[in-house]
Amino acid sequence: MRPSAHHRTAVARCQNAEMTDLEMGAAGELEAAFGPGTSAASGVAPGRVTLLGEHVDYVSGRIACMAIDLTLAVAVRPSADGHWRVVSDGHRVERPAPSMARDIGDRVFAAASALGRFGVVLPPLDIGVASRVPRSSGLSSSAALTAASLVAMLRLAGARLSSDDLVAAALIAEREIVGVPCGDLDPLAVVYSRAGSVLLLDCATGSRETRGWPWPEIGLVVASSGERHDVQGTGYRTRRAMAERACVTLGASGCQEIGDRWRDLPGELRAAGRHIATETRRTDAAIAALEAGDAHRLGVLVNESHESLSSDYRISTERLDAMTAAARRVPGCYGARLVGGGFGGSALALVDRSAADACAAAMAAAAIPDAGTWLIEPSAGVAVPAPDVVTSPT
Ligand code: GLA
Repeated sequence: MRPSAHHRTAVARCQNAEMTDLEMGAAGELEAAFGPGTSAASGVAPGRVTLLGEHVDYVSGRIACMAIDLTLAVAVRPSADGHWRVVSDGHRVERPAPSMARDIGDRVFAAASALGRFGVVLPPLDIGVASRVPRSSGLSSSAALTAASLVAMLRLAGARLSSDDLVAAALIAEREIVGVPCGDLDPLAVVYSRAGSVLLLDCATGSRETRGWPWPEIGLVVASSGERHDVQGTGYRTRRAMAERACVTLGASGCQEIGDRWRDLPGELRAAGRHIATETRRTDAAIAALEAGDAHRLGVLVNESHESLSSDYRISTERLDAMTAAARRVPGCYGARLVGGGFGGSALALVDRSAADACAAAMAAAAIPDAGTWLIEPSAGVAVPAPDVVTSPT
């Protein structure tokens, strides 16, 4: 079935009226790189962290996650000469068509091609990117780039998509066009998160719920290891393949059906099976801890998640193990784990706000120097700040 776009006929968004500083930055970078032209349309999207439920989205697991207040902006305008161009962080690419070349143009051009499947036809574009989401850090800069590109391009085209179609377009871009075998987590978190809330995803049923963050005095610190996480690498593909084989071997349609039967798996699949079976249960326990306001319990689950990802799923690194261990030694830290796809990226700590600086410093001391630390807040996904182009689910 071909999804439909709803073209706007009435009031177009005044393209500069509501621009954030970051959108202005993207538009400024565009003009500086490619010269003056027609005014740009822009879009913003956040990164995300997973609180619990890592590496279970592609086997129908349950996840607690949130968008974060590190965002990325994209500005787009028609190009004057029929070429497609992107500038990001001073790096430029240019080509005659929005094709894939394994460079910084890919995700932006993939977004444009994906919109074509929804009937949104775009002219060749000049595109500028400004980002506060560190790249390759496990914070979903790729999904943020895709979502911000989709929103900016919808604004330029004067078109709208439902939020479900926006997620579908992002997944087409990432899986079919860029070619990354990711699960549903990142675009769902980037689109559907609510400010001040944890988003609960059930990838078996497609259900989404939110729970308010229950502790004003407790926050989340993210520290980048400085090791680049690469979801396009073989590590992610092999883990996904093992998890899927574990389910098939047990005749389970997803990890929620495994229970304790991971014990029956052949040796080479047992550890992966145990990770996905226990991780989705930890998400349920984390939801109960959030509802009960039990930060100590949530911290234990966060630590257990890291141990499972490190020992059973083997996607941690020595540095991420050292960073999470360092965080746990700080008084006021409840728990710490790697976040995102692994093999590098970032660590996340649940910590008293009064101890956030000490926890960030402890993690930074174990990371590559100057990789970056952030006290993050649960933030709104793009469906909330972009009502002019993203409509409610169909
Ligand atoms: C990456 C993928 C997601 C998910 C996470 C791990 O971010 O894009 O689909 O699998 O890794 O939870």
